[in-house]
Amino acid sequence: MHRDDFNILKSGIIYFDNGATTLKPKLLGEAISDYYDNYSSNAHRGDYALSIKASQKYEETRCLVKDLINAKKCKEIAFTSGTTDSINKIVFGYFANVLREGDEVLLTMSEHASNLLPWFELADKLKLKIKYIELDENHEVLLENVERAITDKTKVISIAHISNVVGDVRPIKEINKLAHEKGILVLVDGAQSVPHLKIDVQELDIDFLTFSAHKMCGPTGVGVLYGKEELLNDIKPIIFGGGMNADFNHDGDKIYKTMPDRLEAGTPNVAGVIGFGYIIKYLMDIGFDNIHRYELELKDYLVKRLKEIKEVTIYNGHSKSGIVTINYDGIFPQDLSIYLDKYNICTRAGNHCAKILKEEIHIKNTCRISLYFYNNKAEIDKLIDVLKNPNIMEEII
Ligand SMILES: Cc1ncc(COP(=O)(O)O)c(C=O)c1O
Repeated sequence: MHRDDFNILKSGIIYFDNGATTLKPKLLGEAISDYYDNYSSNAHRGDYALSIKASQKYEETRCLVKDLINAKKCKEIAFTSGTTDSINKIVFGYFANVLREGDEVLLTMSEHASNLLPWFELADKLKLKIKYIELDENHEVLLENVERAITDKTKVISIAHISNVVGDVRPIKEINKLAHEKGILVLVDGAQSVPHLKIDVQELDIDFLTFSAHKMCGPTGVGVLYGKEELLNDIKPIIFGGGMNADFNHDGDKIYKTMPDRLEAGTPNVAGVIGFGYIIKYLMDIGFDNIHRYELELKDYLVKRLKEIKEVTIYNGHSKSGIVTINYDGIFPQDLSIYLDKYNICTRAGNHCAKILKEEIHIKNTCRISLYFYNNKAEIDKLIDVLKNPNIMEEII
């Protein structure tokens, strides 16, 4: 779908590393060049036409994000530099102020480092207890296991909507319902879901949601922190400087602005945020239902074809996302990735920043093929041909 929008695909590259970051359509470069060439100026800081235009376009993106995830208000959206930044701001700006010694934080073993390390740090500081929701035999999260892990000390569940290794789609609506009935807040890491599915924060009743623009055709260095208004009213900034303060004096008295400015200290990534606005419109025009349906069709095809190769182990064949994690007998995953690169096929080898998952699945590294809407069956066929190459072992050595 829409392959002509991506100049880079003309080089013949087969890009299967969309879980790490996606390709960018030419309209992103055009929108960003337009800003730099025609109205380059700071946002929220000038009273002249250029700056007013930059500020308007920046704020337009904020409201486009609101539409994208069906938030109630534009001010429930703060721009950050990415999911990692957003999670840190929520953990240290909100939870650091409401959690107490002995409180329990529920995570899973398949979370990305960005959704583990901030919690480990906070746990050390406040003496919190980190607990893990048990994964089932397919390494997936079942609601009943969430329920089993909850105790009267559980105060927060922090969980990816879609795991970046296993690709399972977690039952977020049900998890939220269960958690809210017990007064527990839920942070949803949407890095791997917002780019691929229609997300409605009101329908799913999400407290906090985080995601990155670069994983959905947008620029690097732009992320989103969504929170329900009543929660964001209590979030404290963890970065201080210009743009986020209303006033201060030499005695150190200070007044900080309200949301979202309070969380956007310093000059933001104006070009990136404006470019992201164009990307949101682009993706909404394609339609998230179409993107998701098409990706699942491609994924099924990929799994079916991979099954033709007896040396290939598929770890997550039935998950409902475009992430497929494999190994090839006798080949170290990184060597496999380097081999595929010789044929212009980009995949990701390693532990995918989910380092503790290996304790759960007893496999240290894998090779990940992650799809997006511009991939097609011909690319999958090429991958299969290359994996079926009778000389694969010789070429790797
Ligand atoms: C599930 C998940 N969470 C968080 C992140 C971190 O995103 P970023 O590097 O854009 O901050 C990633 C990136 O791969 C991810 O897959």
